[in-house]
Amino acid sequence: MKDKEIERLIKLEEKRQNGVINLIASENYVSRDVLMALGSVFTNKYSEGYPGKRYYGGNEIVDKVENLAKERALKLFGLSKNKWSVNVQPYSGSPANLAIYLALVPIGQKIMGMSLSMGGHLTHGHKVSATGKLWKWIHFGVSKKTELLDYYEIRRIARCEKPKMIVAGFTAYPRVIDFKKLRKICDEVGAIFMVDMSHFAGLVAGGAYPSPFPHADVVMTTTHKTLCGPRAAIIFSRKIKLHASSFMLHDLIDRAVFPGLQGGPHINQIAAIAVCLKEAATPAFKKYAKQVVKNAKVLAKELQKKGWRIVSGGTDSHLFLVDTWARGISGKTAQELLEAEKIIVNKNTIPFDTRSPFDPSGIRIGTAAVTTQGMKEKDMIKIAQKIDKILKSHGGH
Ligand SMILES: Cc1ncc(COP(=O)(O)O)c(C=O)c1O
Repeated sequence: MKDKEIERLIKLEEKRQNGVINLIASENYVSRDVLMALGSVFTNKYSEGYPGKRYYGGNEIVDKVENLAKERALKLFGLSKNKWSVNVQPYSGSPANLAIYLALVPIGQKIMGMSLSMGGHLTHGHKVSATGKLWKWIHFGVSKKTELLDYYEIRRIARCEKPKMIVAGFTAYPRVIDFKKLRKICDEVGAIFMVDMSHFAGLVAGGAYPSPFPHADVVMTTTHKTLCGPRAAIIFSRKIKLHASSFMLHDLIDRAVFPGLQGGPHINQIAAIAVCLKEAATPAFKKYAKQVVKNAKVLAKELQKKGWRIVSGGTDSHLFLVDTWARGISGKTAQELLEAEKIIVNKNTIPFDTRSPFDPSGIRIGTAAVTTQGMKEKDMIKIAQKIDKILKSHGGH
């Protein structure tokens, strides 16, 4: 590179990434092919509109890329073109969620979702997010006793509040979601069922986590977590009419993404999405997804054996929460102690946390990135030993 300052920083970051044990649940390492697509000449092109309907000339090749990404997205999750539509243009997960709400729920009306403090995402209506300011959110959490989703309670709230949409998905809920039960609740109250599978999309693709597609109306996913692709997002929508209107769901979503919220799509990102979707369709990726979950289960169990309290008692996915405060170490302190020893995690609230989100009671641990590096169960046992040793030697009792 001619720009030596940035070149140096890229090299330093590469070294940092290779020199740590990365347990951030939302991160992963992409392949060289994904990086090549991201760094390709497609970044030079303006392509406002959709394939075949662009506002600029010179999009013949771009159209092929976007169509390929769409085809691969449907194929990966076993969806028929007649029943499902897909939009690969969202810049990332947050604008994708905003586009879905803007498309399907009139501003000011009710949406139900999991609260951030219980494991949901900022864009599921947190008050500091635009989503929380524009719609009236009814939040649900987990049962205090089991730390699992309480479908009886969700149904009770939904029947009482009659939201226009129910959002299922998480950033910090370790268990499987019963999509069938939530679908039933949506049907009972006339709500659209939206699943944000950003965290577990790669696990669904690899058959290691239940698929939301048989039950949901709309499914959003980021492509950079367990799916191992570029920072971007995809929205899948059923080809059905929005009730009480003559509009098709997917048309509304397409219009909300462009021109509603975005200008020109990032074609280099879309090319990289296409690459990651092809990679995710291989038998090797299936094996990878299963290994991610196996690794998370082993790591959680080993920590548990050493006396660390794991929220809800374990995990069914790529992530879990450790209640470090139960042994006198706050989440922030735990994060810092581990980082000093090159283990990267993030501090996280745990359900019913009594501490501040800036220094909560727990840490979140995920195994997608270390599994991409080839780690297996025996490595998880070693990582658990290391975490235990570091935290105990700094006061964890
Ligand atoms: C469940 C969920 N939804 C949406 C997002 C937002 O994605 P992005 O950070 O790409 O805007 C995230 C990212 O953390 C997430 O975990």
